[in-house]
Amino acid sequence: MSEKLLNDRLLRALRRQPVDVTPVWIMRQAGRYLPEYRATRQRAGDFMTLCKTPELACEVTLQPLQRFDLDAAILFSDILTIPDAMGLGLSVVENKGPRFARPLRSANDIRKLAVPDVEAGLGYVLDAVRLIKRELHGKVPLIGFAGSPWTIATYMIEGASSKNFSLAKGMLYGQPDRMHQLLDILSRSITDYLNGQIAAGVDVVMIFDSWGGILSHAAYLEFSLEYMRRIVRDIRTAGRGSEAPIILFTKGGGLWIDDLAGSGCDAVGLDWTMDIESARSIAGDRVALQGNLDTAVLYSSPATIRRHVAEVLAGFGKGDGHVFNLGHGIHPDIDPDKVAVLVDAVHELSRPYHK
Ligand code: CP3
Repeated sequence: MSEKLLNDRLLRALRRQPVDVTPVWIMRQAGRYLPEYRATRQRAGDFMTLCKTPELACEVTLQPLQRFDLDAAILFSDILTIPDAMGLGLSVVENKGPRFARPLRSANDIRKLAVPDVEAGLGYVLDAVRLIKRELHGKVPLIGFAGSPWTIATYMIEGASSKNFSLAKGMLYGQPDRMHQLLDILSRSITDYLNGQIAAGVDVVMIFDSWGGILSHAAYLEFSLEYMRRIVRDIRTAGRGSEAPIILFTKGGGLWIDDLAGSGCDAVGLDWTMDIESARSIAGDRVALQGNLDTAVLYSSPATIRRHVAEVLAGFGKGDGHVFNLGHGIHPDIDPDKVAVLVDAVHELSRPYHK
């Protein structure tokens, strides 16, 4: 990496190198549980304006670092920026979640899709990355991200969040060729997008496969993991991409730790349902692990939070290759002071696990 980071614990842990204490960051660390996020979002007017205004995206990215002793920043953006750049028209309605004005409804809608030019269609994300890197002054690494092809596809087909994924799973079984065509164009778009983020300065990339866990075993391997594997391979062979560690996170992916660990990625994110000790024994020394405290632990007292943090640390055990995180994104109704308890507990209680 060209620039020297003042705190490189995250990068070291992702490469399974020794650290003094276990690094910690939190999925959705910039979000509605922070009053300062809500204020900036209100100033922006709506979520997409917040994402598309680099100064505001930079401001909310840095907010959690001003409060907590976190070991990483994560770019403020969304996994649905790619379909927005493909012309589907994304909006995020308060308390309702994302909506597409033009979801995919026919074979022709899929045929018409093109890989977006990253500078032209997603330049606002790259501008945000460059600004955030400047404002971070090398304090901690910056994580970039994208959704997995399968997860993004579900939103493009359903048009919004879904309960049963009837349309997306209907296409997977009814028109598998059409689904593969969509996943192929998405994986090429995601590769270009993540390579763009890396070129603009992100130090790590993470792929969020939030809906891989709704698939059958065979469908997961064919329609989700295979496309993430191709993205990992294609980032590795592109320029600076070979240096940035890649984290894959499949929510509900506990049955596929072995497959994920063999995908070529550097780290596997674990949700809260998994036993991190078993995950480590399955993954062996192939990858680092990230996770996996149940977000709901943050509704309890500081003493209870510390006890559960200690359990996750003990579950992973001694040695390198653990990045502490929640098992999924933080909820909007969590008290920010509880996050401070969590972050400080990870640093304090993990010291004996490192030399
Ligand atoms: O982690 C971070 O702090 C970085 C920012 C980030 C956001 N979304 C901001 C956001 C990241 C990494 C995401 C990823 C994302 N977006 C995922 C994958 C992670 C996951 O949760 O599994 C998914 C599935 C999405 C799609 C999406 N965007 C949904 C389902 C929603 C609504 C969520 C909600 O809680 O209402 C969004 C909007 C969104 N993206 C918000 C934030 C902070 C809430 C918007 C708001 O009302 O301010």
